[in-house]
Amino acid sequence: MLKLRVRSITYEAEGILSYELVDPSGRELPRFDAGAHIDVQIPGGLSRRYSLCNPPGDTGCYRIAVLNAPGGRGGSRAMHEKVNAGDWIEVSEPHNFFPLTADARHTVLLAGGIGITPILAMMEALEAQGRSWELHYCTRDASRTAFRRRFAGPGADPRVTIHHDEGDPSKGLDIVSLLSRHEEGKHLYFCGPAGFMSAVRAATAHWPCEAVHFEYFGAEPPKAAVAGEDAHASELHLLRSDRIVPIEAAETILEALRAAGVECESSCEAGVCGACKTAYSAGTPEHNDYVLGDEERSSYVLVCCARVSEGPLVLEL
Ligand code: FES
Repeated sequence: MLKLRVRSITYEAEGILSYELVDPSGRELPRFDAGAHIDVQIPGGLSRRYSLCNPPGDTGCYRIAVLNAPGGRGGSRAMHEKVNAGDWIEVSEPHNFFPLTADARHTVLLAGGIGITPILAMMEALEAQGRSWELHYCTRDASRTAFRRRFAGPGADPRVTIHHDEGDPSKGLDIVSLLSRHEEGKHLYFCGPAGFMSAVRAATAHWPCEAVHFEYFGAEPPKAAVAGEDAHASELHLLRSDRIVPIEAAETILEALRAAGVECESSCEAGVCGACKTAYSAGTPEHNDYVLGDEERSSYVLVCCARVSEGPLVLEL
């Protein structure tokens, strides 16, 4: 963990503050790439993941932006209410589950609300690399548009379009038209609230899956927490280690593996990063992730959030 100081807190938009975190002795911070996030230890014992929104390569500070969402789980509210300039704050080194691909001919960046944070760093990176990009940024109105000064005003970049829907999705960006055609070499990156994510995923159903990249907010409740309707108690057959592990209906596969002392790689444990992707050859998992496409689900499972629907489930472990 890194022990940093809050150098400044800035009002960015209605309900959104940004925080600049620095090493108190002025040392450079570990480098990060666009799309990276840090885990922040928040007063009250909570840990939350926030995307870094300063330009990659800027190792003088980490900048995050936090929306104090009504109905949130308390982490963002504690950031707004309990963290002050000058405070110490512990954060992880940057991790990146949402990296840019190196070979895109053109990149479409699409942000909904506070989902602008990783997208802003991507825009800065693409611009610094001289690559082709466009950004569509969807917010309710100007007062809720973080980083507005970066995008609007004299000299505003014509590749950036801000769409306000005034609370009525039919007035905002026509996502279906924007994404109606996919050309070779075009990649899409998007991040935003749940309804926005569903709309963009539906609108890109005909795109090749390797051209579509997205990240759900760290604050999004893991699907695993609300899943389990199709899950049953059963067994996991571990092919490589030749073991049988019992699993309860309420357990995720990862929980069952851990209870049996079986090591398995994981990171986000919320079905968003893909670190726990495991091949299976028989049985039916209850998939609860945000990552795998339909085709991949026939042979892979993200064990951190999946349960067993029909067992035994035979895993390449
Ligand atoms: S650990 Fe990230 S998807 Fe499972």
